[in-house]
Amino acid sequence: METVVSGIRPTGNLHLGNYYGAVKNFLKMQENYNCYFFIADYHSLTTHPHPADLHGNVRQILAEYLAAGLDPEKSTIYIQSDLPEVAELTLLLNMNAYLGELERTTSFKEKARKQPDNVNAGLLTYPVLMASDIIIHQASKVPVGKDQEQNLEMTRKFANRFNRIYEVDYFTIPQPFNFGESLIKIPGLDGSGKMGKSEGNGIYLAEDPKSIRKKVMKAVTDSGPTEPNSPVTEPIQNLFTLMEVVSDQAVLDQFKEDYAKCTIRYGDLKKKLAEDIINFTAPIRERINAIAADDAYLRKVAEMGREKAHENAAKTLKEVREIIGFKPF
Ligand code: TYM
Repeated sequence: METVVSGIRPTGNLHLGNYYGAVKNFLKMQENYNCYFFIADYHSLTTHPHPADLHGNVRQILAEYLAAGLDPEKSTIYIQSDLPEVAELTLLLNMNAYLGELERTTSFKEKARKQPDNVNAGLLTYPVLMASDIIIHQASKVPVGKDQEQNLEMTRKFANRFNRIYEVDYFTIPQPFNFGESLIKIPGLDGSGKMGKSEGNGIYLAEDPKSIRKKVMKAVTDSGPTEPNSPVTEPIQNLFTLMEVVSDQAVLDQFKEDYAKCTIRYGDLKKKLAEDIINFTAPIRERINAIAADDAYLRKVAEMGREKAHENAAKTLKEVREIIGFKPF
């Protein structure tokens, strides 16, 4: 059976981008693949979370994974920092990762621009840690959104390079994966770019309906089409893209037709979009609240995941150490 690995950083609640870019695929994949889904708390250290917040952030994502439908009986759900083998593999892969290629990655350049006072080495080697997460389980598929495409390319590069340097056919070379074929990018409500945790443009699975309505009603639009069949502008296309994932096709088609005829009313579009988002998120939100209150269950899930993931990771590490040439006396 093919192995799947994916993770999400615990730097804020799950938003619709995380759901449609990643979690939705996790739910389908857990039925037919050997799945490892983790919470990337080592990665989250690149932005220096306060120690008092770290555990709560991890706990929240764990509750949200479960509320969204991840099943600990079907997939292995674990916390990245529960696998110290991942850190060791990162150290080993770092020896074959080159400064130039790490500096050239878009995510590094973007982060360096966003946090110029904290351009730490962890940001630079972020793709190496991510590669370790994936190849430590010999994953062949990695369900992620479009923004992770380049990181996946780096993973493939590091895995191939290891195999080449040591003249082995050891690591599986993973592919990015989406059931809809191409990787997706969910836009934010601010007119341009993707929905993100740090952009403040997101809608969260745990968000209450009042707040969702307020955010959607404030979403950036334009002054409206004046010529029939004019091209759809970016902010409106973004609202259509959100509708594509939460609304019925007929509803979206109608608004697109209204746009083409210049009869569209953005207020109506937003109202419908808000209601459809609420219909989708409300049951998940209820489950998040129930699961987040259940300490014993969360502890049990994390422990089950740790045991299973650890067993697999330890096997890989042992083999990698042998390939590299470490030997006991
Ligand atoms: P992170 O935490 O930024 O995002 C988690 C997942 O959500 C997807 N995503 C989106 N998809 C579509 N549209 C959006 N607007 C959007 N925003 C986020 C991301 O593509 C991702 O799949 N580096 C990763 C975490 C990670 C990882 C891994 C993933 C660490 N190790 C190993 C896969 C395999 C990250 O920061 O994702």
